[in-house]
Amino acid sequence: MLSLEPMPESSFLERRPAPFLKWAGGKSRLIPQLAAFFPQKLPRGYLEPFAGGGAVFFHVRANLGAAHYTLIDNNEELIHCYRTVRDETDALIERLGAHRALHSRAHYYQVRQQDPGLLDPVGRAARFIYLNKTCYNGLYRVNSRGRFNVPIGAYPNPQIFDPENLKSVAGHLQGVALETGDFEQVVSLAQEGDFVYFDPPYHPISRTSKFTSYTPDAFSSYDQERLKRAVELLAARGCLVMVSNSDCEFIRDLYRDFRIETVRAARAINSDASRRGLINEVVVLNY
Ligand SMILES: C[S@@+](CC[C@H](N)C(=O)[O-])C[C@H]1O[C@@H](n2cnc3c(N)ncnc32)[C@H](O)[C@@H]1O
Repeated sequence: MLSLEPMPESSFLERRPAPFLKWAGGKSRLIPQLAAFFPQKLPRGYLEPFAGGGAVFFHVRANLGAAHYTLIDNNEELIHCYRTVRDETDALIERLGAHRALHSRAHYYQVRQQDPGLLDPVGRAARFIYLNKTCYNGLYRVNSRGRFNVPIGAYPNPQIFDPENLKSVAGHLQGVALETGDFEQVVSLAQEGDFVYFDPPYHPISRTSKFTSYTPDAFSSYDQERLKRAVELLAARGCLVMVSNSDCEFIRDLYRDFRIETVRAARAINSDASRRGLINEVVVLNY
């Protein structure tokens, strides 16, 4: 029988949190394979500098129990959204309920053209979740002026939010440090014994493969090299470091001095996104 009683505070942590956004490159389906490479125990901190939809964080938070957690992403709207889920859960759920009730093509485009900077903090996060769950493929794309410009998706009945999951997510975000900015920040934050998991935008596997830009500035080969230097610094400091990326010559060569394992992922294998298949991805480890 369905109970309409509100869940007591402590039970938010008993329900496993799941990603509440659709996110390009989301790792949910890869978790069982990735988990085989996680350290057995996390006595120190867990830091994730390309947090995205948080699939790996939610798994680690619910299963491995680190001493403290830091999530970083250079998408300011995303980090603002995490902060709001954590700190203003009930107000956010209420605002999402209003979007759900109003959802239509006209409402979508009206919300899309709002300037998030002019909304109140809860409204700004609700707009982000609403657009993410109703737009085409959950894409995040902005124009040259930084305005979200993805068209509406073809969902007859989009599941915009699950209040109980948001409460569980909020419970699991308590005490988590949430930082907007470049991944390199992690170099000044991580300490010996911390576990750092990097899931950057992948290096394209071929010149024809589509590049997904998450922010106005695409992630270049130079950024991949910058990331590798950060990995070397953290490894020298005694951190446990794990990096996901595409399986290609450039990445294998970049990390040639590290342990490289492969996992099998369901991804578009060429520029035609309708042709999906299993493809290798690499996992780089310093342990
Ligand atoms: C592949 S996604 C991460 C997916 C995540 N692991 C998940 O399961 O949803 C990469 C993320 O890196 C962020 N990003 C891109 N360039 C960045 C940079 N220079 N510094 C920090 N974050 C960056 C993007 O906003 C995006 O959320």
